[in-house]
Amino acid sequence: MTEPIVVVAAALYDTGGRLLAARRSAPPELAGRWELPGGKVEPGESPERALVRELREELGVDADPVARVPGEWPLKPGYVLRVWRCDLRSGDPLPLQDHDELRWLGPDEIWSVDWLDQDVPAVKDTVSGTA
Ligand code: C5P
Repeated sequence: MTEPIVVVAAALYDTGGRLLAARRSAPPELAGRWELPGGKVEPGESPERALVRELREELGVDADPVARVPGEWPLKPGYVLRVWRCDLRSGDPLPLQDHDELRWLGPDEIWSVDWLDQDVPAVKDTVSGTA
């Protein structure tokens, strides 16, 4: 069996403890749904480096992955999602690529957006305080 392709995603919090959610603008079947920002790990790249690269490309920020949220979640066949809690080092996140809106969600607002189905269990575990 071939190894699944790993998609890495970030749990980024602001100083008020709100979690960043990003609304996808593409592809059409995912547009309008919300996700934890991230993307595919490239061959030869570590997951943490991939996450740093994706956050620069997609949001224009420098961030450090500091703690992996335990577990991994299936995406489409052949892909799995892993999540890291990340610290924002510099920059204000902007929807530069793949997204058309960003929103900081307080603890009571986490379920106010239409998360991608496959992100729901990851978000649940992320906000349940495991990382
Ligand atoms: O962002 P990118 O297109 O590189 O993501 C690769 C795949 O992983 C896409 O199919 C995307 O929908 C999926 N993904 C996801 N949840 C995330 C990040 C990416 O399902 N939080």
